[in-house]
Amino acid sequence: MANRITTLFNIKYPIIQAGMIWCSGWELASAVSNAGGLGIIGSGSMYPDVLDEQITKCKNATNKPFAVNLPMIYPDIDKHIETILKHKVPIVFTSAGNPKTWTKLLKDNGIIVVHVVSSLKFALKSELAGVDAVVAEGFEAGGHNGREETTTMTLIPIVANELKIPLIAAGGIGTGKGMFAALALGADGVQIGSRFVATPESSAHQNFKDTVVNTQDGGTELTLKELTPVRLIKNEFYNQVQTAYQNNATPEDIKNLLGRGRAKKGMFEGDLIEGELEIGQIAGLINEIKPASEIVEEIMTEFNDLKMEINGGGKFGF
Ligand SMILES: Cc1cc2nc3c(=O)[nH]c(=O)nc-3n(C[C@H](O)[C@H](O)[C@H](O)COP(=O)(O)O)c2cc1C
Repeated sequence: MANRITTLFNIKYPIIQAGMIWCSGWELASAVSNAGGLGIIGSGSMYPDVLDEQITKCKNATNKPFAVNLPMIYPDIDKHIETILKHKVPIVFTSAGNPKTWTKLLKDNGIIVVHVVSSLKFALKSELAGVDAVVAEGFEAGGHNGREETTTMTLIPIVANELKIPLIAAGGIGTGKGMFAALALGADGVQIGSRFVATPESSAHQNFKDTVVNTQDGGTELTLKELTPVRLIKNEFYNQVQTAYQNNATPEDIKNLLGRGRAKKGMFEGDLIEGELEIGQIAGLINEIKPASEIVEEIMTEFNDLKMEINGGGKFGF
């Protein structure tokens, strides 16, 4: 399937596995790249030496393109950039910050740059900053999220109407039908996070993977909005946050309650009570843990079946 995204990244399918703290290391990224999508190493939870090792392992495990996600709030970002340049990583997805900050340097070094946004305003800012493509992420998504609360269903056509560079849809996509819908709304590709957490290759703790599989619709909420909005599974830690709000907690109180290392505790160490468990609304549709390559194949089969059935004449332009 050739389109602007497969051509830009030199991949077979326009399926991008999202960069995710504590969940997407070299094993998941290389598995998705080997399956014909684009795998992304989530550097936001890695010390610089860990990122160095993860990139080396990824290069050894695949000869296909892969990317690194760089959240700009990362404190040691200069060191991550150094590592990325040293390894000549071909593609970088930046997020959580101003697209102007690193785009030029990365592009001057021959790297393809993609920026993640949650609004039309920042999509257009990213285009102006010179990125090669934009990920527009809706309210349904797992992990940190925009304050605007615009859903993927609404955001994608709004951005697609005005953006000239390729557009990747994220948030609430986990199946071939979801991908078909995203492309019908005007996206050129999809970025999928939550679904790839439930794979043997994801570095998430088994307890977290099992919880994702057991989460039903309504089992997550976007919270901690006065700090950095994040979508969490409604576990004991989430209940503690809700109780704090009911008791009129100040942002400082909430910050103290959150403390440090909650995401690691929940997603990597498997503490389902005290840990922060980040996942998207699509968890309600994830019912089993299966290899990343099977997920990619399943999505493409479902997508292609729909393409034949509904889009026989290619009337949507994809
Ligand atoms: C566990 C988890 C961790 C995430 N960590 C990051 C991250 O470090 N950087 C980032 O840009 N996005 C992060 N995200 C968001 C994803 O990159 C992606 O855009 C999102 O998962 C897409 O929505 P979905 O979960 O409905 O597939 C994370 C998402 C999850 C579920």
